[in-house]
Amino acid sequence: MEHLMRAATVVALLVLSLGTACHGALQYGFYNGKCGYKDVEAIIQGVVSARFARDPTIVAALLRLQFHDCFVLGCDASILLDGPSSEKTAFPNLSVRGYDLIDEIKAAVEAACPGVVSCADIIIAAARDAVALAGGMPYRVPMGRRDGTVGLASNVVLPSPFMSVQQALQIYQQKGFNVFDMVLQLGAHTVGVTHCSFVDGRLYDFSGSGKPDPSMNTALLNDLKQICPPQSSTDNIVDLDQNPTSVNRVDNSYYRQLMQNRGVLPIDQALASDPSTRWIVQLLASTNLFPPLFNNALVKLGSNQVLTGTQGQIRTNCRALQTTLHHSCRRREKAKMVSRGAAATVALLALNLAVSCHASLQYGFYKGKCKNQDVETIIRNIVTASWFGDQKIVAGLLRLQFHDCFVRGCDASLLLDGPTSEKTAFPNLTVFGYDLIDQIKAALESACPGVVSCADIIIAATRDAVVLAGGQKYEVQLGRRDGTVSQASLVNLPAPEISVPAAIQLYAQRGFGTRDMVLLLGAHTVGVTHCSIVNSRLYNWNGSGKPDPNMDPFYVMVLQNVACPIGQTFDNFVFLDDPSSVLKVDNSYYNQLLRKRGILPIDQALALDPTTKPIVQQLAGNNGLFLTQFGQALVKMGAFQVLTGTQGQIRQNCRRVN
Ligand code: HEM
Ligand code: HEM
Repeated sequence: MEHLMRAATVVALLVLSLGTACHGALQYGFYNGKCGYKDVEAIIQGVVSARFARDPTIVAALLRLQFHDCFVLGCDASILLDGPSSEKTAFPNLSVRGYDLIDEIKAAVEAACPGVVSCADIIIAAARDAVALAGGMPYRVPMGRRDGTVGLASNVVLPSPFMSVQQALQIYQQKGFNVFDMVLQLGAHTVGVTHCSFVDGRLYDFSGSGKPDPSMNTALLNDLKQICPPQSSTDNIVDLDQNPTSVNRVDNSYYRQLMQNRGVLPIDQALASDPSTRWIVQLLASTNLFPPLFNNALVKLGSNQVLTGTQGQIRTNCRALQTTLHHSCRRREKAKMVSRGAAATVALLALNLAVSCHASLQYGFYKGKCKNQDVETIIRNIVTASWFGDQKIVAGLLRLQFHDCFVRGCDASLLLDGPTSEKTAFPNLTVFGYDLIDQIKAALESACPGVVSCADIIIAATRDAVVLAGGQKYEVQLGRRDGTVSQASLVNLPAPEISVPAAIQLYAQRGFGTRDMVLLLGAHTVGVTHCSIVNSRLYNWNGSGKPDPNMDPFYVMVLQNVACPIGQTFDNFVFLDDPSSVLKVDNSYYNQLLRKRGILPIDQALALDPTTKPIVQQLAGNNGLFLTQFGQALVKMGAFQVLTGTQGQIRQNCRRVN
């Protein structure tokens, strides 16, 4: 009888669980048709499956990531944000893993359709795919979350493993979950590991008794004492599910272990003794209810306090906030629409004028805007003619795009003349290509004055040059406007000696991931540098008085004797890529790096740093992949902090503000 009543409670609770899950505007199949013909969920699943094949422990990483994200300010990917006091620096998050997989997925979905898929949805979808791969029951989750903009360690309130069931339940209830949700969610401890530091108390000094936890199974106690010897100097890891055949499997083994007093964390075993949870553990251990109920619990967890619609943002890089003003603009646009037709037209007109809003970049932006002339064709013809005259222009334009976009966004601020303008800053002294931009601008001004921005010219011309040099054709969205500020003091470009982690950080601050960085540095497949920058690697690496041991000795010899001999009185140039390929856009640069033939310190460092080396290896082995993704990376860089709509201006002369 009691059993029946309990079962009825389960059903009631299940209904309650589903009923109270506040999905907001989340939808099943949310991304259908939003990413061209591509299937977003299939892309995510592909990346998760590939990782799972190499590392099945990724299932645990993703489940914990979902929990730690959703419990703090809701499922808004706030845990993914980097920063000195971000959520990931809080104590309970120090052993959270899987960020790199999320980055990998994000790169794949951004390549398919930039700015569409949120990091928050990626976490939820990836955890779902991982569960199915690990033997759990496949399930669907509604999507449409947006990414949050706040991630602070001080917001992290997560239950501790040393809490009593009632204390943990209190935290769960504050977040809108019930006891059933809590026990089911903790079923995630059917995979993954913990550390001896969380278990030692149960092994040697339970509740200050100086003795082991009497509720721990003796065989388990002996096993764990082996893994976690007293006063050990290393914090070893312990499987959370102590059934050796089920460590990486999503099944009800965790609850069966609890029923045999073989739970590992204090909170795990406590579930099997507290009267409010023991019966649920018993039920899950003895039936096959766990798989579908676990799925429901994860869907509910994944719907906790989500941002949807126009809330939050879609980050380009899950580790950094998006810096454009899209969201607030959309709100203002909405405000404008709502009030149109209302009486306060005059006030609104003032508002319209006062607010300069971002429109978005568009494909074919200039169609029909330049009489009957095709703006992109005019640009391409001039670039092509110039390239036939001097193929080095490809390097000039690529570097110009980078140095423009990285400083105050892609607003042609680099083109402005003046005694203290950006082009006078040290890293820009060797930038060239300004005259070609002038030439293009003159042609466009005579076709349709005041229409095409200098910022767009840089982006379109670079694209055309890349294609001429063997790159893959890529479409660029246009509609940028020109900035009005250009100051040498604002130029914060990476130095060639920068370390890989520091460079990653610099890129991340601008919303670019590590892969973007490695791809963009692929621009060094063309062009040159100077002996003044290479000499330290040839003659006095890190003050050693010797060459850099990470430079191929043959290259050292050639450069020492031919390009940059001691005492040379002029600053000779050095090809950044293999001389036979230095005018071509291809993956030869990465192959050179693998042969220790990188030229700039940062180039070679990419092939040495463990974070970037695998990317270098992959790109070195696949020219097609490089060509496709290089184009995508340039598109992404070209959309960085752009001015659109009524912002900025269209300069008549790229060297001067109107
Ligand atoms: C009362 C609630 C919970 C507490 C106190 C708790 C505590 C912990 C602790 C202490 C660890 C070990 C961390 C380490 O040693 O580095 C851990 C690991 C883990 N937790 Fe929880 N947890 C709770 C709920 C959850 C939930 C709801 C989920 C997911 C839905 C989850 C998923 C995991 C996973 C998968 C691991 C293994 C991680 C890995 O292998 O890297 N936990 N948890
Ligand atoms: C960590 C990032 C980067 C650093 C530290 C860096 C540094 C440098 C340096 C020191 C030079 C040689 C300048 C000279 O000797 O005159 C150079 C050349 C060049 N850089 Fe970069 N760069 C970086 C990223 C990029 C990116 C993202 C692009 C374009 C997408 C790019 C495109 C180029 C090109 C094409 C050249 C050759 C220019 C020429 O032939 O005149 N670089 N870079």
